[in-house]
Amino acid sequence: MSSATPADPAPETDTVLVVDFGAQYAQLIARRVREARVYSEIVPSSMPVAEMLAKRPRAIILSGGPSSVYAPGAPGLDRSIFEAGVPVFGMCYGFQLMATTLGGTVDNSGAREYGRTALDVSKPGSTLFEGTPAQQSVWMSHGDACSAAPDGFTVTASTDVVPVAAFEDDEKRLYGVQYHPEVLHTTHGQQILEHFLYRGAGIQPSWTTSNVVDEQIAAIRAQVGDRRAICGLSGGVDSAVAAALVQRAIGDRLTCVYVDHGLMRKGETEQVEKDFVAATGVRLKVVDASERFLTALAGVSDPEQKRKTIGREFIRVFEQAQAEIVAEAPGDQPVEFLVQGTLYPDVVESGGGTGTANIKSHHNVGGLPEDLEFALVEPLRKLFKDEVRMVGQELGLPDEIVQRQPFPGPGLGIRIVGEVTKERLDLLREADAIAREELTAAGLDRDIWQCPVVLLADVRSVGVQGDGRTYGHPVVLRPVSSEDAMTADWSRLPYDVLARISTRITNEVAEVNRVVLDVTSKPPGTIEWE
Ligand code: XMP
Repeated sequence: MSSATPADPAPETDTVLVVDFGAQYAQLIARRVREARVYSEIVPSSMPVAEMLAKRPRAIILSGGPSSVYAPGAPGLDRSIFEAGVPVFGMCYGFQLMATTLGGTVDNSGAREYGRTALDVSKPGSTLFEGTPAQQSVWMSHGDACSAAPDGFTVTASTDVVPVAAFEDDEKRLYGVQYHPEVLHTTHGQQILEHFLYRGAGIQPSWTTSNVVDEQIAAIRAQVGDRRAICGLSGGVDSAVAAALVQRAIGDRLTCVYVDHGLMRKGETEQVEKDFVAATGVRLKVVDASERFLTALAGVSDPEQKRKTIGREFIRVFEQAQAEIVAEAPGDQPVEFLVQGTLYPDVVESGGGTGTANIKSHHNVGGLPEDLEFALVEPLRKLFKDEVRMVGQELGLPDEIVQRQPFPGPGLGIRIVGEVTKERLDLLREADAIAREELTAAGLDRDIWQCPVVLLADVRSVGVQGDGRTYGHPVVLRPVSSEDAMTADWSRLPYDVLARISTRITNEVAEVNRVVLDVTSKPPGTIEWE
């Protein structure tokens, strides 16, 4: 795999660096900064300060983290970060690090606070606290407490337990709070963050979706030049938005490939074929490979075996399509680029952020081969999911695509417990379409993460319908709510909605005589059954 230049924002973009001290606070802070319409990037705390400063940040935020500043091996930071004239805001661990580095006192005195805490603001007109109440609810999570601020700082808030819960030095433009402004439980957290950005650091809120679109289009043009690119469409949000952006940038020199494996839900293939093409004008190659997938899946009922089979066939079909695209226009510029919908959390979690991109065993499309000879174009590398949706809207993609809930790459193949056959797929497609229709009609799409409908194809139970005995299959409804799919809870859907779904499925889908509800959280259950 050759490396690619990630599409960076234009050099003049005001950037705020979020220094990551662990425990995933940094991602949330970076998102909140972007919600304040300021561009932010996460860097590891192990990055040398000189390297951070070389990025010419307009401000730096030090995140919270799980360590105590006194623990052996706790991550530190060179003092020069506070002396470079760049405004700095420390939160929780970052606050304590700032305090100790600059000569304040942090004691390990057992002054612990966890959870919701009342904060008393002693300087209501300060840079951070202006216009916010004298007492406010904040989220704390610390074992050590700051008892004396460093010289030059004004203490601007305290709690019953902590004498110094916030300090500010307007001259040096250094600020810190003991709590977590980034979490929703902190009632004025976003306001305080914005005060730091706009008032403390003097940054104008200018990071908008249309800037992102313009910047990315320019970056893609610079990267691809007059050569060609291909993009695998999965039907999901990320690949659709990535493709739409690249199409805007290079037009017909992008060809999208959509592999129809026959495991999609009702209407999904048509959505890509018609709505996506209508909205973007993209050049699309649809490969109908459903027969091939069904043949390969014949006799396979083990979940992992199914996933592997689907992944393997996908790669073969995709490579074949790619070879055909190259062969169809041999005189044209070479096809050198592969467009991927990699998002910022993927980049951060794989320890990256800079450097060479690698294709992970990408489960959206079933896993692309590692040795594809392409450079990657990843126009969403800097974006969070909600920003991707906004870019999609900006590009005029239909809501059905932009607001789509997650759907697994192996599709309905992993929602049939037992062997996958055409008949079973058709049956599940009907039941799934009914559930989706009713959830949409009840206005619940935004409340749930997704609602897999699972066919227990090897199970039968006795029922009675129209005075006759039935011996049909159950389907399982698996509505879940989640923030990131790592953990999930079963959604408490209204009984009347569940009743409508159940009645309609058992009436309208022959062979299904029972609808059951999965009330398992994750863990211990996963979201999908296979
Ligand atoms: P689990 O079942 O692991 O699912 O709790 C977590 C989330 O990931 C989705 N999922 C997949 N997505 N390819 C995908 O693109 C896959 O192979 C795959 N398996 C699970 C699932 O729908 C849920 O949102």
